[in-house]
Parts: sequence; structure tokens; C-alpha cells
Amino acid sequence: MLVTRRLLGGRHDRTLTAAVGCGPCPGSRPVRRKSLVWLRRAVGLCLVPFPVSLPDCLDAAPWQLRAITDADWPIEQALSSDPEVIRWTMYPPYMDGERSRERIGRARQRAEERISQRYVISQGAGCGVGTAGIAIGEFDLPEVFYALLPQGRGRGAATVAAVVLSDWALSLGLAPVLLFTMIGNTTSEAVAARAGFTCAGRNVLDHRGQPSAMRRWTRTQTN
Ligand SMILES: CC(C)(COP(=O)(O)OP(=O)(O)OC[C@H]1O[C@@H](n2cnc3c(N)ncnc32)[C@H](O)[C@@H]1OP(=O)(O)O)[C@@H](O)C(=O)NCCC(=O)NCCS
Repeated sequence: MLVTRRLLGGRHDRTLTAAVGCGPCPGSRPVRRKSLVWLRRAVGLCLVPFPVSLPDCLDAAPWQLRAITDADWPIEQALSSDPEVIRWTMYPPYMDGERSRERIGRARQRAEERISQRYVISQGAGCGVGTAGIAIGEFDLPEVFYALLPQGRGRGAATVAAVVLSDWALSLGLAPVLLFTMIGNTTSEAVAARAGFTCAGRNVLDHRGQPSAMRRWTRTQTN
């Protein structure tokens, strides 16, 4: 496990980047490539889980992150209908209540398997303004992600969520922590930079069935 987690910093980096995809060869048509996580699931290979259970709550003052529950399906549904979320994230678009609850059910299952945890971001007893999470991602490294509803934007919630989630993984010695942004998502790039991530290169990953150029960001130590 530790060996695979060092891959990005070592000589295997180039090999892996090539496997995930570095863009089309000149003159060739873009080739659709699936992520390594997708490929491993498809052939029945297990992901390496986090070494401990993922926390149910994280303090991200002035915000709190709490593990998503069945009751949170309205925020899941609202996010899936937001144009920016549809454009820049993996959220399935326009989920109804049933599909939102199913998606949360899968998230709860993966939390039990210690593969990922998704959280609702809120302040006190207030309504959730978005979701964030951490998962075992590409190359068996932890990866953070986030999405906010319009009313949650411009308030620092995504930045602090990215900080506390990556701090948690780094505190376990899991480094680097990854974050992927689609090329053009400048607001998310700003979140990554504010949260202490640095741009470490590009990957072409699958996004809704199409190859999509992504910036790969890494964070290796707490501030
Ligand atoms: C990407 C996304 C989460 C960024 O949201 P955001 O509100 O810009 O990010 P933050 O929550 O970190 O807030 C930062 C903003 O709040 C301001 N802010 C206020 N208080 C702050 C604080 N305590 N800390 C940091 N920023 C603060 C910042 O100045 C910044 O505003 P600015 O962009 O006008 O400079 C949001 O646009 C979104 O959900 N987009 C659609 C989904 C998406 O792209 N997800 C990411 C996929 S990789």
C-alpha cells in the first residue's frame, strides 16, 4: 500500500500518467479512457481502504462537516440540478428523490467499507449549503472533492472543507492528497490553491463518458 502511495513522487509517475492518459497523440482521435478506479472495479480488484474508519463529523469552523444521511436527499437532489455542479462534477444530473436516496445509500456503504465518506457542509443547525468528501481515488491516494449550492458560494465553505479533509488524511500519513479540477474550472482551482494544494500536472480522465482534461493538485503537508 505504501509503495503505491509513493508512486506520484517516484519514477513510476510517468508510467501511471501514461496509463491514465496524457491526451491524444498528435493526429489521432481522442481515445476514451476510464479512470484507474473504474477499471479496477470492473475487473473486481479491491481498492485499498483507509486504515481507520472515516470520521462522522469534522469541525471546519465556522462550518461543520457531518456524514451524509438518508435525510439529506433534498440537498443531493438540489446539487444534481445545479448547472455548475452538472458541468464540473460527477454528480448525476437531475436526480429525483429516489435516485438521490439511492446515491446516499451507496455513499453510506462505501463509508462502511472505508473507501470514502461524503459530508454535508452546514453552519450550526442551519441548512446544508453543499457537500464535500474524501475517497480512495486514483493511484490508491486520498482524493478530496466538493460542490456547493449557489447560496453557499463565496463564503469559504469549500476551502475550509478541503483543508480539514486533507488534514485528516495527512494526519494518518497518507500523502499526497489529490484533488482534480476540470480545465476551465477557475473557481475550483482557486479553492485548491487557497487550501494549500499545488498543481502537479494533468490527467485525462473520464467525465460523463468523455475524455476530459483535468488538473491534478496535490497537498503533502499541513500548513
Ligand atoms: C467550486 C466551488 C465549490 C467554489 O465555491 P466558492 O464559494 O468559490 O469557494 P469557497 O467556499 O472556498 O469560497 C471562496 C470565496 O469565499 C470568499 N471567502 C469568504 N470567507 C472566506 C474564508 N473564511 N475562507 C476562504 N474564502 C472566503 C473568498 O474570498 C472567495 O470569494 P472570491 O471567489 O470572490 O474571492 C463552487 O463554485 C461550486 O460548487 N461549483 C460547482 C461544483 C464544482 O465545480 N465543484 C468542484 C469540482 S472540482
